[in-house]
Amino acid sequence: MPHEKFHYKSLEEVQAKAAELGVSLPFAADTHILATPLTAGKVTFPNRLGIAPMEGADSAPEGAPSDYTVRRYVNEAIGGSSVIWFEAISIVEEGRSSKTQLLLTRDTLDEFKKMTAAVKEAGIKANGFAPYLIMQANHSGRYSNPGNKPAPMIAYRHPILEQYRAADDSCIVTDDYLKGLEEKFGEAAQLAKEAGFDAIDIKSCHGYLLAELASAYNRPGEYGGSFENRFRLLKNGIRAAKVYEDDSFMVTARIGIYDGYAYPWGFGVSPESGTNPDLTEPIRLVRDLHNELGLSMVDLTMGNPYATTHVTRPFDFGKYEPDEHPFVGLARMIHGIGEGCAGDDRLGLRPELSARLRRPVHRRCGGAGPVRWYAVWPYGLC
Ligand SMILES: Cc1cc2nc3c(=O)[nH]c(=O)nc-3n(C[C@H](O)[C@H](O)[C@H](O)COP(=O)(O)O)c2cc1C
Repeated sequence: MPHEKFHYKSLEEVQAKAAELGVSLPFAADTHILATPLTAGKVTFPNRLGIAPMEGADSAPEGAPSDYTVRRYVNEAIGGSSVIWFEAISIVEEGRSSKTQLLLTRDTLDEFKKMTAAVKEAGIKANGFAPYLIMQANHSGRYSNPGNKPAPMIAYRHPILEQYRAADDSCIVTDDYLKGLEEKFGEAAQLAKEAGFDAIDIKSCHGYLLAELASAYNRPGEYGGSFENRFRLLKNGIRAAKVYEDDSFMVTARIGIYDGYAYPWGFGVSPESGTNPDLTEPIRLVRDLHNELGLSMVDLTMGNPYATTHVTRPFDFGKYEPDEHPFVGLARMIHGIGEGCAGDDRLGLRPELSARLRRPVHRRCGGAGPVRWYAVWPYGLC
């Protein structure tokens, strides 16, 4: 199924093309369920619409939200989604993706407080409820670019990714550095709570530092090799953040379950699966996050937007041409994420509810605005 540009004018055209390609893209005839409440852990969302995180690169130089940042999020709140999953916010200066990426520190805290207050107030005024605000705590890792100068901090040498962005052995972060980051995620949770966020996401997706560790099969030391080692930073970061969890503040995670590269260069594949997903480890991880660490909500995603963009989203314009039709990537995302959270039956979580809500028709909702790949424990809007 070769790649082609996509421009469809109606649902019928999309369905006809999917049928021609033999690709399964499920649609809902009735989406009223999206207007009904959903409970995850101790939180009940008034509807099932959420805004996916999207970096705006419009912070003030020291990392505080600018007027543009506040305006974006106020507008999102007015839109009426119950969840706003904020963009990647750096937890350390050296891990910023640009000199205009948001950075949450004691110095920028007051500006973040003003932003969350304004966003909640806008939601209440427009819709009668305050949206649930999730801070996405990130370290850009290989894509660190503080001061707009590339300064990669990598988990291991990756010949494919380094074709796009140079790195050398001196860029490999030490175990001591990673150990120090665990506590930084705890500090970020404390700051996020003080800033007025309702939750913190310990981000592990899209090729950033924690996501790269997921495929650090050949890294020596405490953060590479075994499954436990590769997820040591993620799990310990979550544990450090959980110290601040209570009835009004949740810890969650956005997890990349497949990168689009064959073993040993990507997560969500096995030595035998080539570039085809093998979700054995991602499912194990999601189960651990729920059973071992007590997360009641996760957000699952795929791909590396810098390098395997077509895995992250339908893609027909950019620095390369994928060797598959965009619908193939879309189906991989929809069905892969369904499989990634299919662990709930095996975990014995309200199977009658999850079976109903896990129907594919509910997995993707909305177009360019409110979103979609929402994997919510335990009732899986995935
Ligand atoms: C400009 C841009 C910025 C993004 N920034 C983030 C981000 O900060 N954090 C994140 O987890 N995902 C980020 N994403 C990924 C989106 O959340 C989403 O997963 C992806 O775009 C696929 O959804 P779509 O098909 O609706 O575009 C970004 C995407 C785009 C296009």
